[in-house]
Amino acid sequence: MLLNASGCLDALTAPGVARSLDAFVTKTITPEPREGNVPVRIAETDVGMLNSIGLANPGRERFLAEVLPRLRDLGVPLWVSVGGFAAADYAETCAALEGVTIELNLSCPNVDEAPESAAEIVSACRAATPLPLYAKLSAAVPDIPALARAVQAAGADGLSLINTLRGMKLDPHTLRPVLGREVGGLSGPALKPVALAAVHACWRATGMPIVGMGGVSSGRDALELVAAGARDVALGTVLFGDPDAPARVRAELVEECSSLGVAILDDAFAIAHEGIEIPA
Ligand SMILES: Cc1cc2nc3c(=O)[nH]c(=O)nc-3n(C[C@H](O)[C@H](O)[C@H](O)COP(=O)(O)O)c2cc1C
Repeated sequence: MLLNASGCLDALTAPGVARSLDAFVTKTITPEPREGNVPVRIAETDVGMLNSIGLANPGRERFLAEVLPRLRDLGVPLWVSVGGFAAADYAETCAALEGVTIELNLSCPNVDEAPESAAEIVSACRAATPLPLYAKLSAAVPDIPALARAVQAAGADGLSLINTLRGMKLDPHTLRPVLGREVGGLSGPALKPVALAAVHACWRATGMPIVGMGGVSSGRDALELVAAGARDVALGTVLFGDPDAPARVRAELVEECSSLGVAILDDAFAIAHEGIEIPA
């Protein structure tokens, strides 16, 4: 299954791109509206893109009343990315949702009030909703398999891996940070090896369904994440430059499989772990 990464596609302005995916993932929704960070909020680097959008979003009430009904009209399965600053924030949004998959954004480098305990948030959300719950984790933690096991024990159904990594760009003339907030989230090609390692480690640790993302721009990239243990793959930064990426990546995936002698993509699933005992 091919999805977009949260925050990398506006389905209401690009409905055709959203319909070319198997499911659309919303930008992270917080309880209150957020205008986001001061400009400059986007910067290109040699190895990917930096953003400090700061979770700009219309807030829960407007999202539920105005945005979600319009997204439902697209006829694409929906994933709603839920954010907040305390477990109760997340749980209240989860309780208000129906008929979607929920992705809990447990990591955002642009928000200082990062949630203290991922497991506490997942437990609160698990108690608030029977909907499928994916926990989106950052790879910038000391022990990501331990974090994955903690959210699994707290009731998550799957993992979304990975979010951006903190980065900075300096102006070549002034040597001052380019981004208004000085630092931002790095996405794009530099993330791919980090994402592969995170998916590989978390699948080995938990056996959970994983949406792999981070620097995917080709069928080969997607295939590698599947081989590391991702059931599904999400396209992020690539969508800004190439809105046709979903169809292209699907076509490339078929070619990559056939050139490797793999009949169907499922046969490549977790193949990087071959010979290793897999968790139940
Ligand atoms: C402009 C921008 C906005 C993003 N907004 C969100 C967001 O609201 N919530 C979230 O969980 N991740 C957000 N992300 C992170 C992506 O969903 C994804 O995890 C990350 O970009 C890695 O994938 P990529 O290298 O394919 O872009 C954002 C990324 C970018 C580039």
